[in-house]
Amino acid sequence: MNNIKAVFICLISIFGCNIQAQTSSENDHEIEKKIDSILKLMTLEEKIGQMTMYNGSWDLTGPPGTVNAKDKFEKLKNGKIGAMLNVTSAEATREAQKAVMEHTRLKIPLVFGYDVIHGYKTIFPIPLGESASWDLELMEKSASIAAKEASAAGIHWTFAPMIDVSRDARWGRVMEGAGEDPYFNSVVGVARIKGFQGDDLTATHTIAACAKHFAGYGFAEAGKDYNSVDVGVYELHNSILPPFKAAAEANVATFMNAFNEIDGIPATAHKYLQRDVLKDGWNWEGLMVSDWGSIGEMIAHGYARDKTHAGELAIKGGSDMDMESSAYEIGLKNLVEENKVSIDLVDDAVKRVLRLKMKLGLFKDPYKYSNLDREASDIYTEAHQEIAREAGRKSIVLLKNDTLPTKSSPLLPLRTNQKIAVIGDLADDKDTPLGNWRAKAERKSAVSLLEGIKNAIPPENITFARGPEFVTDVLEEGKRQFLWPLKFNENDTTGTANALNVAKNADVVIVAMGENAYQTGEGRSQVDIQINKLQKDFLKKVRKANPNTVLVLMNGRPLDLSWESENISAILETWHLGSQAGNSIADVLFGKYNPSGKLPVSFPRSVGQEPLFYNQKNTGRPNSQNTVTFSGYTDSEKTALYPFGFGLSYTTFKYDKLKLSDTTMTKNGKILASIEVTNTGNKDGEEIVQLYIRDLIGSLTRPVRELKGFKKLMIKKGETKTVSFEITKDQLEFYTVDKIWDVEPGNFRLGIGGDSQIKLGAIFKVQ
Ligand code: NOJ
Repeated sequence: MNNIKAVFICLISIFGCNIQAQTSSENDHEIEKKIDSILKLMTLEEKIGQMTMYNGSWDLTGPPGTVNAKDKFEKLKNGKIGAMLNVTSAEATREAQKAVMEHTRLKIPLVFGYDVIHGYKTIFPIPLGESASWDLELMEKSASIAAKEASAAGIHWTFAPMIDVSRDARWGRVMEGAGEDPYFNSVVGVARIKGFQGDDLTATHTIAACAKHFAGYGFAEAGKDYNSVDVGVYELHNSILPPFKAAAEANVATFMNAFNEIDGIPATAHKYLQRDVLKDGWNWEGLMVSDWGSIGEMIAHGYARDKTHAGELAIKGGSDMDMESSAYEIGLKNLVEENKVSIDLVDDAVKRVLRLKMKLGLFKDPYKYSNLDREASDIYTEAHQEIAREAGRKSIVLLKNDTLPTKSSPLLPLRTNQKIAVIGDLADDKDTPLGNWRAKAERKSAVSLLEGIKNAIPPENITFARGPEFVTDVLEEGKRQFLWPLKFNENDTTGTANALNVAKNADVVIVAMGENAYQTGEGRSQVDIQINKLQKDFLKKVRKANPNTVLVLMNGRPLDLSWESENISAILETWHLGSQAGNSIADVLFGKYNPSGKLPVSFPRSVGQEPLFYNQKNTGRPNSQNTVTFSGYTDSEKTALYPFGFGLSYTTFKYDKLKLSDTTMTKNGKILASIEVTNTGNKDGEEIVQLYIRDLIGSLTRPVRELKGFKKLMIKKGETKTVSFEITKDQLEFYTVDKIWDVEPGNFRLGIGGDSQIKLGAIFKVQ
């Protein structure tokens, strides 16, 4: 009793007259002082409790754990849990928070995490799709709306953005990031972090972000999820770590480590990565959470003997919080008491947890996010739907738009007075556009393509025919996302004859095909990346019935579109576009919006090319002459079918007069590169102007080209704009053979253009 009294008095003296004395203007120094004072009051068990995260069992995002809901409440009351994931809603978070605030000795509030990946209830395009907009402001805005909605439902912390550079279309999680380029992932990641976190984490509408997965997860061998990664230290620093460094510099509140091993060491226990590079090297003071069960999984990796050993390796390796392994809960106390783990490591981890809670303002008001009024008013608003529609149309990439021999203009945009056949079960699908990782989206809540078209043109001009059914959708919500293997109808011919008839009698056919929502995402790797056989066979028949066919693709990964690109006149890549998908697509189809998206990933000619990325090395035998002894394939071209950075518009752009302000510069100097871009078509349009650079000779071999900057700008028809980029050491440095970031003197080649295949023309020298 006396002890309790003493603790209570201590807390009063730390926080002033009550525990809620924390103010939003607190500076870091004051926060650190408070953290130290709290730490002094904590027992070892309480510290371990802060390092433990439990799933709320409301929503599983990994294999089910063993602890049931009732036991969890007991653990909450006993201070055994410091954080929860998958507890959503103002009411549920309030209830769990209450268990802690009313029963634990120190009343350290819980922090609630959730995968808010591309929206909470208002769903934006999947991250890969939204990245195709190359519109950083837009991505920041959609993340801020996701934060506003999630925080209104009690969530403090999102496990996003994923900034794994992903170069393999087989890997299902390619949908969750910004594609294959390190620089692009860096700037997109920072925009999303800013959107989630805003300027002030204590504000009620902002949430903590999480840079994941640290590191190398996107380099899984053969594109197989959770698979081993084997990269050298130079590749690690030059290709994988840059987005994480940018995230740390942008003050991301948390990092998540990864399931994979790198060169034999599981990321979860990777001391070099988590301590030497991140915490010590980059001086990052945030919280490192493990991935779901990844501490325990080190047993299966063959790296830890048992959970206690796994916990020891994880804490030493730099994992501060254990998500769903219970390894710290089971073994950490003994490890400390037996001097196998230093208490300093535990204290450092706990301080990081407390810092997060302090920065979120939870000590001031643990319930401030669990607000029923805000939950009722701030979620799924009309204003949010408008932004979702804008994000959708800006994310669409026009891959092909031919003029048929009998016509004078390209197939797209369509006229509203044409007789239009809308075909394919995905066209009428209100669920697939929501994609995977859809948080609290209501099932079947997206505007379908058919609905979007109906909103855009007179109904009498539209005939819909489903054709064969592609996905067997028999499972109820919840179970559906764990369906494996995905069941596709292979032989359904219901509706084929009718659909072909409808196609034949229309002026234009819009056919929707691609991937089901759960075909990409975690654990959704595939060896076949074409649209499935049933759809493809049907598409061939539709094309035969009416050559005026527009293919609207809905998918979460780069696809092999070799047949489609040869045979279909117009192709629109719409990804899984979110709540307003149908309206966004209709905006583009009927020319209300001139498409401006560009691919953040290379689309291959065949799965055999994967991993495929534009910023590859030259090799010693790069030339593509018709000889067998060069680096390529004997049965395919080695280039992408649609390269990184590619996307068409309803207008055309000409690039001219590339100029450098100087052809030499010093290491710390700068030069200006500029180019004239003219809109040579008949419509106003936005263009994404891209800067690529090659370091010609290095102490390590350098990629054939690397994206180093881009600008998205509106150019009116007939107008010419001069676009310039400043070249400084930031664009030229790399992690050299000496293991430092440096600019090496020598020649560089540069090019500016509309995709990654442009000629790198101008040479300059760094002295
Ligand atoms: C596993 C995933 O890899 C990670 O990205 C996610 O945040 C956690 N599960 C929590 O759902």
